[in-house]
Order: sequence, then C-alpha cells, then structure tokens
Amino acid sequence: MKGLILSGGKGTRLYPITFNRAKQLVPVANKPVLFRVIEAIKEAGIDEIGIVIGDTGAEIREAVGSGKRWDVDITYIPQEAPLGLAHAVKISQQFLGDERFVMFLGDNVIQGGISNLIRQFASSNWNSQVVLTAVDQPQHYGVAELDEQGRIKQLVEKPRNPTSNLALVGIYMFDPNVFAAVHAIKPSWRNELEITDAIQWLVENGYAVHPYIHRGWWIDTGKPIDMLEANNRVLAELVHRVDGFVDQDSKIDHLVTVERGAEIINSVIRGPAIIGEDARILNSYVGPFTSIFHHTTVEESEIEHSIVLDHSRIVGVPSRIADSIIGRDVEITYSPIKPKAYKMTLGDHSKVGLL
Ligand code: G1P
Repeated sequence: MKGLILSGGKGTRLYPITFNRAKQLVPVANKPVLFRVIEAIKEAGIDEIGIVIGDTGAEIREAVGSGKRWDVDITYIPQEAPLGLAHAVKISQQFLGDERFVMFLGDNVIQGGISNLIRQFASSNWNSQVVLTAVDQPQHYGVAELDEQGRIKQLVEKPRNPTSNLALVGIYMFDPNVFAAVHAIKPSWRNELEITDAIQWLVENGYAVHPYIHRGWWIDTGKPIDMLEANNRVLAELVHRVDGFVDQDSKIDHLVTVERGAEIINSVIRGPAIIGEDARILNSYVGPFTSIFHHTTVEESEIEHSIVLDHSRIVGVPSRIADSIIGRDVEITYSPIKPKAYKMTLGDHSKVGLL
C-alpha cells in the first residue's frame, strides 16, 4: 500500500499563526501535526508516501525533506489550487499507480494511529474503507447515513440538515476504482471536487465501501480551539521524560517533558506539559496542557493551557496567560515606561484578549 497526505490549504481560520506558515507544521505537543501523520502511516507499515502541496509547498518540502528521518520515501505532488480532496487524488494517479492506498489529511490527529485500520483494509476485498465518528456539529463535515445493517446508505458533504451525527474523519482507504469516481463527479457549490461525492459515487455504482466507526478522539486542527484541544489530548497521552536541566528549587511532576538543552530554574511546572529544546523557564509557573516550543523563554510569568512557538519571550507578564496560541519570535513583556498602558505592535489578523 501507499500513503497520500494532503498538505495544501491556506489555514485562514488559524490566522495569524498560519499567515506565513503551513498549518500542518504548527506543533502540537512540540511536534508538527504533519510529522505525526507521517509517523502514523509509517507505523502502519507504509513507506512510500506522496504529499500533495499548495502555496506553502516550499516550507513543507524544507521541513519534511526526503523522508529519510522516518525511513520513508516522500514524493511531492504540487496542486495548482485548492480544488478539493478528490482533485488531489486525481493529480496523484501517476504516483499511486494501481496500488491500494490510504489518504490522510495532514492537519488531522487521531487517537491510536491507523495500523489496525490498514491491516483490516489490506486483508479485505473492500474497494474503500472510510472512518466515521460521532460529532456534535455534523453540518461542518462530510456526513454518513447508515442502514439497519450498518452499511453506508448515503454520504453528503456538509449537509444543512444532517440525517446522522456520523462525520467522515480525514482518513480514507481506496483501491484504484476511486480514479473512475474522481473523474465522474462534478465540482460542488464551493467549486471543489469533494471526496465525499467520489465515495458516494462508489456506493451508487456497487463498489464495497466499508464504514469503520472510530470510538476514540479525533481532531481536525482547523481552528485555534481545535489546536489547543489536540495539544491537550496528545500531551495527556505522551510518555514523559526529562532530558534537560531542572534545578533544585524547581518542582515538576511526572507528566512533564523537558527536552534536551532546556533549563527549568526556580519554577513550578504542572503537567501534562512539554518544554522544548533550549527553552528557559525562570521564576515562573507553567500549568497543565502547555507546550513551550524550542528556544522560548518564560521568565517571571505564569502560563497554562497554551501553545507557544519557538524563539518567543514571555517576561514579567503581570497576570497569568491562558488559552492562548503564541507564534514565533513573539515578545510579551512588562513595560515600566510611562504612560502606564498596553503597548502593542500586532501584525495583521492578531487577536488579543485583555482583562
Ligand atoms: C474535509 C472533507 C469532509 C471531512 C473533513 C474532515 O472537509 O471534505 O468530508 O469530514 O475534511 O476533517 P474540509 O476540511 O475540506 O472542510
């Protein structure tokens, strides 16, 4: 089997974090979501992976490279515009050839990986397997309606009046019959070739599409709140370890990871939390569900339930920071200079919530 990861898209709902960076490269528990996807595919025994890239392709190529780091072969497949998931399959036909494959959206995080799913599909004669999970707001997803025997009756992309709460998770398995489907369907109202329509075409034309119901958690990291939620989930399941330095005046618990070169000085860290390489936590409190990425400093400050990217400085902030996503090279510091006021240099699309 081969793997196909979709890593295009503009990530507008994550602005400004994704204003100049690919959304799939935003780290969750200090590892880009895309790297987690590659690892899940490799763990399932697949080592030939195509990555469909768009406007942010150069950055993705630079971060992932040849795939050597994971012992996989990566082929990049440029998509000229975000014309839909089925369009991505269409342009990947040459790479996929006549092999069965798994398609995984590069911004999705799923509990438990996909090894069992792949094993099941590889040993079946199904033409496709889709992953479904119960969600609260099905209208935002592709939705599946099943019959009494649990077979797929109908799939609809973002229905206004959903007939079930089962959403299509961004993980799909196909055999080469999907190419007939992606050529047969027409663009949707949002002018995209929808993979949901292609799968519906398979169902209507008598192909075997097996629905697998996923019972664990699954997160599509489209919005800041989803990013924080994914961070919570992954941090809670991480096997924690301390490779950096923790001084005697600091207190950390067993759910805290301190990466290589990091320094924790006179601080309290309550896990689950992760402190990245060469980061420095000084006279501070880092609370649960916080990921501090590489080379970032937190000094005389308190932060919890947040993600901070690399090379940022949080120094002397008078009240606790929470529920925040803070980008790269950001400075949040106390300013004693009069007038006593918030002094900000914020880029386009920034969002600040003040007390
Ligand atoms: C896409 C699919 C949708 C699926 C979702 C999962 O939606 O079209 O069927 O449920 O991914 O993340 P999009 O992210 O393009 O809105």
